[in-house]
Amino acid sequence: MKGIILAGGTGSRLFPLTRVVSKQLLPVFDKPMLYYPLSTLMLAGIRDILVISTPVDLPRMEQLLGDGRSLGMNFQYAVQDAPRGLAEAFLIGEAFLEGGPAALILGDNLFFGEALGDILEARCAAASGATIFATRVQDPTAYGVVEIAPDGQAVSIEEKPREPKSDWAVTGLYIYDSKVTQLARKIKPSGRKELEITDLNRLYLEAGELSVERLGRGYAWFDTGTPESLMEAGEFIRTLQKRQGLKIACIEEIACERGYITAVQVEALAKNYASTEYASYLLNLARSKTGF
Ligand code: DAU
Repeated sequence: MKGIILAGGTGSRLFPLTRVVSKQLLPVFDKPMLYYPLSTLMLAGIRDILVISTPVDLPRMEQLLGDGRSLGMNFQYAVQDAPRGLAEAFLIGEAFLEGGPAALILGDNLFFGEALGDILEARCAAASGATIFATRVQDPTAYGVVEIAPDGQAVSIEEKPREPKSDWAVTGLYIYDSKVTQLARKIKPSGRKELEITDLNRLYLEAGELSVERLGRGYAWFDTGTPESLMEAGEFIRTLQKRQGLKIACIEEIACERGYITAVQVEALAKNYASTEYASYLLNLARSKTGF
């Protein structure tokens, strides 16, 4: 399974914060936002990842993450020259995906929860169909909304409905089988001139191949599209990390825990972060593994 992080768009809801800086590079407490969706894909066991962003922002992202080799990963980069919709990711990523299955995550989406990696890995292993991840929200009108039958099957899916049929929002994390590129080609631009991910999901639904994973009370989901939600996400990360002494979305730690890199390599990577608390965290992690 390969992964795509879609990290383009104008970030206009965050102006003036994002006038000259990409939203996905803004801090969420102690890390760039991009680390969070990247860590979600890493926890799913995905090692080949395509980052898609604007022509202006992509070089900065490449500068931040590099080719991934130091993490035992493979990162590639591709431009989306205008925000033509989330489903365009599969057209831009066609050569990268080589006709295979794909997980897509939005660069501004943060997920947190026990054993999320295991759930994702199990979903990625599914032979066919698509999986969306839904969570309850107070105001579903701002999101894709999925109506779910008592047996857990998706009944309908709508993009930002005025009268939502449920309070289950569709989060910005999607897993698709190898039909995804072919199906993405069938989608026509919507009223807002975008290739809607909701239309792609509806094609899977109509074929009886859309599964919904409900993320219940034990999970947190943030999309960091407004100053308020960006701040809330940062506060959440700060509070949890401070209480537990464990970092959320520390990509070096995840790479080490998954066996992609050794503790000695983690120690070397700590040097990238000068004498910060992040660097100390990595050094402590490396020492706890090597016993020095
Ligand atoms: O966050 C979850 C929601 O994301 C879903 O519930 C919706 O079904 C889905 O359409 C999407 O809704 P948004 O209104 O949040 O989409 P937005 O246009 O804000 O784009 C989401 C992110 O993707 C944002 O950071 C910008 C980026 N983006 C967006 C478009 C349209 C791109 O990189 N390229 C694009 O073409």
